[in-house]
Amino acid sequence: EKRWLRNHLLSLKTLSLVVLSVQTSTMVLLLRYSRTTSTHQPYIITTAVLMSELLKLALSLCFLHLDSGKIMRVTLKRLYEDVLLNAWETLKLAIPAFLYVVQNNLLFIALSNLDAATYQVTYQLKILTTAIFSWVMLGKRLAPIHWLSLCLLMLGVSLVQVDGGNANRSTSKILPEVEAMEGADPSLLGGAEGGEAGEGGGEVHPPDAHNAAHPNTEVRRLLGILAVFVSCISSGFSGVYFERLVKKGKQTSLIIRNIQLGVFSIAFAVMAVSGDSRAIRENGFFQGYSLATWLVVLIQAFGGLMVSVTMKYADNILKGFATSLSIVMSSLVSWLALGDAAPTIQFVIGASIVISSTFLYGVTPQRESEIRESTHHA
Ligand code: C5P
Repeated sequence: EKRWLRNHLLSLKTLSLVVLSVQTSTMVLLLRYSRTTSTHQPYIITTAVLMSELLKLALSLCFLHLDSGKIMRVTLKRLYEDVLLNAWETLKLAIPAFLYVVQNNLLFIALSNLDAATYQVTYQLKILTTAIFSWVMLGKRLAPIHWLSLCLLMLGVSLVQVDGGNANRSTSKILPEVEAMEGADPSLLGGAEGGEAGEGGGEVHPPDAHNAAHPNTEVRRLLGILAVFVSCISSGFSGVYFERLVKKGKQTSLIIRNIQLGVFSIAFAVMAVSGDSRAIRENGFFQGYSLATWLVVLIQAFGGLMVSVTMKYADNILKGFATSLSIVMSSLVSWLALGDAAPTIQFVIGASIVISSTFLYGVTPQRESEIRESTHHA
């Protein structure tokens, strides 16, 4: 029986990692497409984040209902007892909920300013932050090979980052579209645009706005990178925090944990939306929504739930490993289908180092003990 359970857990683990990898690539590309290829006014980022949080909670409630044998009385009783009466346990989720809402908004900002490949490779730094938080908060010991792969990871990310040419070309290519967004989404530029445009002397948008030399290109790139760096810290901390709650501590089910998280996430997402109240009053909550926007909302919600499954059955570091696979997929599609700049040699070398280092990290003796740990908890 133990062997069956072990195999069952292993396949759940592998399946969740593969699904997450495909989900991540689709999400990154669709999000970037939805922000850069819009023919009309851009949608408001905070509303999209709120919609995906609402969808996630609705789905989690459906799962709870199914898990309760579709008996409404049982579902309501569990909600009352596990979420409301268990107020202290519920309250613990306020911290990751806040960070995730910030992080999910940053994701949109990052992908409005960076090409898909640069975003994904840089975001791999979250493996480093996750490892540090896993060490500090879960007491996970890192073997020398782990540290070696983390150093390689840093090297690879730096190579991709130094390769400014690649990103400049691709960011400047979307410049006119991104500039069209400024009115509705000032957070995109952090106010840096105004001054420079003024100095430019009644700047219009001539064809040579596509030149890599455009100063705003650097500002956008910097803003995008900053958004990714903050996300790496938030992702590492929240991921380990959530993993700790579903693996150790009080044995509350994953569905209940997601509902507890969802309640706070919605509250924080509503606060974020209220920051855009003027634009919403003027042009409506769903202004600029296209089919791509709805798909992004849907895939983002589905991805969030997938992430929680990988945290329960695999772990956060392996989750990073899965997303690094998706880098290859989305870079290729982004280049071939979305017209982002072709990767330079330096980018390819840097990305290869990032991916190999993640593989190196994935193949570790630690895996055995983690499997035993999950089997024990199941
Ligand atoms: O990049 P990272 O793995 O940190 O992304 C985490 C994503 O998963 C966020 O969008 C977050 O909202 C979502 N999530 C979730 N439910 C959880 C844990 C994370 O929806 N239990």
